[in-house]
Amino acid sequence: MIEKLVRKNILELKPYTSARDSFLEGILLDANENSLGSVIRDEWDLKLNRYPDPAQNEIREKLSKYLGVQKEKLFFGVGSDEIIDLLIRIFCNPGKDSVLITEPTYGMYKVACDVNDIKVLSVPLNRRFQLDITKIFEIINRTTKIIFLCSPNNPTGNLLKKKDVIKLVKSFKGIVVIDEAYIDFSEKKSFVNDVANYKNLIVMRTFSEAWGLAGIRSGFSIADEFITNLLFKITAPYNLNKFTSNAILNALSNIKKKDSFVRKLNLEKEKLTEQLKNIKQIQKVFPSDANFILFRIKKATEIYNELATKGIIIRDRSNQVGLDNCLRVSIGTPKENRIFIKTLKEILK
Ligand SMILES: Cc1ncc(COP(=O)(O)O)c(C=O)c1O
Repeated sequence: MIEKLVRKNILELKPYTSARDSFLEGILLDANENSLGSVIRDEWDLKLNRYPDPAQNEIREKLSKYLGVQKEKLFFGVGSDEIIDLLIRIFCNPGKDSVLITEPTYGMYKVACDVNDIKVLSVPLNRRFQLDITKIFEIINRTTKIIFLCSPNNPTGNLLKKKDVIKLVKSFKGIVVIDEAYIDFSEKKSFVNDVANYKNLIVMRTFSEAWGLAGIRSGFSIADEFITNLLFKITAPYNLNKFTSNAILNALSNIKKKDSFVRKLNLEKEKLTEQLKNIKQIQKVFPSDANFILFRIKKATEIYNELATKGIIIRDRSNQVGLDNCLRVSIGTPKENRIFIKTLKEILK
């Protein structure tokens, strides 16, 4: 029963209500907006003087068609980062509950736990960066409310094995969140359709990577209606602004463009992988289902710093669990990738 996992104060919360929950049109004298207009030119005719639709109806309908998932299961956050924070606040009691993460992984799960005073339990991924199911079950306890998984995983780039994830979803009594920020770059199937079968499974996706819209700050979740309603209950009113919603509608009318970006970036990734493999100082280039490559190289931090002084910024991941001497590079434009490889080779001469 998911209800039993929810913090009591959240279940009992009377959320902020707005007249716009019921009425979006008419003579709108309910919300103290400026009825005369806005001080800037409203190029997109978004009616910027008016608050956005708190129920995110239009974008949820459009996303519902794209994903083939009921609108009632969809929630948009100010980036998936907002959704991570909201989920922790829905399920985890500060100072009492815990969250499990499998490291190395995306850093925000731990940051959001720390902000909310939630204990983080960490189980390292195995040598192949897959889940260690036995260890996970040893470590979790009655206080563990959420397990955050990331597939393809940041920063390792690999997908988690589906059967491991499903095993966890089936046996764990809490919530399993699977962060699919990079799934568009993979040919393997998403977990989106599994949400219908498992009430404790939440999938997160984002517009920040394949869609090329990191600047609009929007991610979304696919979850059981009960959980989706809780997300709406606790997010700040009107969390998605009209510029962002408009960009999402446009993006969902340009799916082919996203697919073409993915094809191009994946081709570049193949090229870059081969080039990195041909550099003798590089000890390992990890296969990637995402839009970045992780590689291991001696004196990684020094090399990272030298690249930075030459204006090429990648990520030093050497301090993460199991990633000594590992650097992560995002796939750039063909020109950027050429310059990166050329500069790296010069540094290594
Ligand atoms: C695994 C993962 N999840 C989520 C995010 C953040 O997504 P958003 O930009 O939607 O907040 C990132 C960004 O780097 C990420 O790597």
